[in-house]
Amino acid sequence: MDTSHILYGFTDLKNLDSHGPIVLNKAKGAYVYDTKGKKYFDGNSGLWNSVVGFDHPKMIATAQKQYEELSGYHALFGRITEPAINLTNKLIEVSPFDEGKVFFTNSGSEANDTAVKLLWFMNWHKGLPKKRKIITRYNSYHGVTVGAASMTGKPYNDVFGLPLSDFIRSACPHYWKFGKEGESEEDFSLRMAQDLEDVIAKEGADTIAGFFAEPVMGAGGVIPPSKNYFQLIQPILKKHNIPLIADEVICGFGRTGNLWGSITYDIKPDMIIASKCITSGFFPLGAVITGEEITKELMDASYAAEEFPHGFTAGGHPVGCALALQAIDIIIEEKLLENVRKLEPLFMGGLKSFEDMEFIGEARGIGLMGALEMVQDKKTKKPFDGHMNMGERVANKAIEKGLICRPLGPSIVLCPPFITTPEQIDFMYSTLKETLNEVFNEIKISN
Ligand SMILES: Cc1ncc(COP(=O)(O)O)c(C=O)c1O
Repeated sequence: MDTSHILYGFTDLKNLDSHGPIVLNKAKGAYVYDTKGKKYFDGNSGLWNSVVGFDHPKMIATAQKQYEELSGYHALFGRITEPAINLTNKLIEVSPFDEGKVFFTNSGSEANDTAVKLLWFMNWHKGLPKKRKIITRYNSYHGVTVGAASMTGKPYNDVFGLPLSDFIRSACPHYWKFGKEGESEEDFSLRMAQDLEDVIAKEGADTIAGFFAEPVMGAGGVIPPSKNYFQLIQPILKKHNIPLIADEVICGFGRTGNLWGSITYDIKPDMIIASKCITSGFFPLGAVITGEEITKELMDASYAAEEFPHGFTAGGHPVGCALALQAIDIIIEEKLLENVRKLEPLFMGGLKSFEDMEFIGEARGIGLMGALEMVQDKKTKKPFDGHMNMGERVANKAIEKGLICRPLGPSIVLCPPFITTPEQIDFMYSTLKETLNEVFNEIKISN
């Protein structure tokens, strides 16, 4: 096939030159197949999102039925479709909020941008035009649009001249990596909270519009928060009147074993960003869910301005909304949350056993999301040289053996679908162990 016309995103092009892309054309359950008929267990659920099975018959039937009834319509100017209304009601029902509103987007990035604009809009109405700054954490991932990329705390956005002004950072609560020698995890979390206090003091609380956090940092390399982190920072945000927005794009709908990462970590957000598992990868859809207080302020601002001047052509698409309703029903009715919880000990226990390997520095995760971070020296936690491409080497070899896992810097990320079986976890780990042994032997020989 002529693949010369695709402009790849987030792809190591030099590495791709030697391997070529994997072209997929079929999927069944938790497996995908390439055009040569090779079968892969997808240890990454597509991109964290295909969790109910790629070919779930109810999802396919729902899409077919909705396309036959009403194939597409927007959700603007007072027009709306039944599936979009039903989904707003469902999302409020399953959200931690008693009351609230839902704004639909096509992606997680757009949902984050939308949430920033909501905050700015409310503050404009309250006569607080200087209350604009957005705090996120170093190493966080919030997406790629200009706003969401400005929120993302990764150095690779330097090439775009981002972040924009008004986007500022606080520390990343990764104890294994950033804890000081002799510092307990509890003390580390206190230091993280103090860092946030310091950022707020430096910038001025009256200039800060909101604090966005993923309950577990996903694309940062699966980093669960350090002990008590959210319990320590929430009172600080409250004291300074700074809304907390939970970016649940990865954690939402079950990844951590509860419907929301906010439940798992006892976070009381003012707003939630959702996407990915919301349609189990069957349709692009994102949502901003506003809690009681923000909803009220937002409605006041909307009446004052006559409208909230924002919206996407395909936001609230009826097929996407019908699929989201179906995906949420499947997750709840087919007891997939229970399956995530049931598998967690096997998943996490198996993951932790990799820490016995010579070059595995940390195995971390929760629910059905985990990462193995490779280091050159376990004692000093010295990372491998970037040019050794350890993550890519492992992922490429695993793929040859029929396992899809994702390289993320020095880490290998695993986040299998919610329908995964214990046998599939065994396959995933035995394949990965074999792969790592081979790669580690190669580097020992070349040294
Ligand atoms: C936490 C988080 N927020 C936002 C996004 C952006 O979502 P999208 O890729 O749909 O724009 C992602 C994507 O991985 C994410 O993990």
